[in-house]
Amino acid sequence: MERLETGIRGLDELLGGGFPRGKTILVVGSPGSGKTTFAIQYLYRGALLGEGGLYVSMDEPPENVKSDLSSFGWDLDGMEKSGRIIFVDATPLKRVGGAEELDEGGYEVQEMTFQSLIRTIRKIVDEEGISRIAVDPITPLMLRYETPLERRRALLTFFENLSRTKCTSIVTTELRTSVFRRSFQLEEFLSQGVILLHSIFHAGNLVRAIQIEKMRGIAHDAQPRPYRIGKDGIEVFPRDKIFG
Ligand SMILES: Nc1ncnc2c1ncn2[C@@H]1O[C@H](COP(=O)(O)OP(=O)(O)OP(=O)(O)O)[C@@H](O)[C@H]1O
Ligand SMILES: [Mg+2]
Repeated sequence: MERLETGIRGLDELLGGGFPRGKTILVVGSPGSGKTTFAIQYLYRGALLGEGGLYVSMDEPPENVKSDLSSFGWDLDGMEKSGRIIFVDATPLKRVGGAEELDEGGYEVQEMTFQSLIRTIRKIVDEEGISRIAVDPITPLMLRYETPLERRRALLTFFENLSRTKCTSIVTTELRTSVFRRSFQLEEFLSQGVILLHSIFHAGNLVRAIQIEKMRGIAHDAQPRPYRIGKDGIEVFPRDKIFG
């Protein structure tokens, strides 16, 4: 199976070479665990390698995301200007039934519905030669639906459409319970890979650990491994134990 460099130092070693191409991988983590950093770091690496990236911002306008990540020293504006990373503002989707007028031009969606978001993604992938997608986070989409059945149907449609693009996609999602008591979340069943970002309190310290819960089709390390967020983004220590 062909692999893609993740851009996250140490992670490729856990994956035995990188993400399997064409799969959809869920990144599950609590607030501040580094989901957005992970998503952008992945796209940035692709952009450096000449693989076009699409960032679908579900929670905050892309401008805010870019400014939040400005301390990492990644030239996101430059990548956007040269068309190597395309940012889509999908935050109107959070407002249920909201048909808000947005600026003309570009790829801003006028009336954001679930269907129009999917159409926009597919159009950009076709027209701009995208091979990496990040959707960050999927949670607002799920909050639009009241019943578990509707949520399941919408998520399934969304994941199927990501898969059809043939891109290698990252979808982030918020951890809704503690890592120790958690039950599996619906989106974990629907994605081909799941990566957990744990934040654990141990002896008065916050310990960050990353764990590949599943990655269909490849052999991978399944242990929780320490990671840190530093000035170059996320770095994983693939041979260390978290309490070792
Ligand atoms: N230059 C930096 N060096 C070290 N840590 C940083 C730096 N810039 C940001 N951080 C930290 O990175 C963490 C991860 O932020 P990020 O936005 O990626 O998390 P998130 O999981 O997307 O959070 P949210 O749930 O709020 O969307 C933040 O808690 C922040 O303190
Ligand atoms: Mg985030």
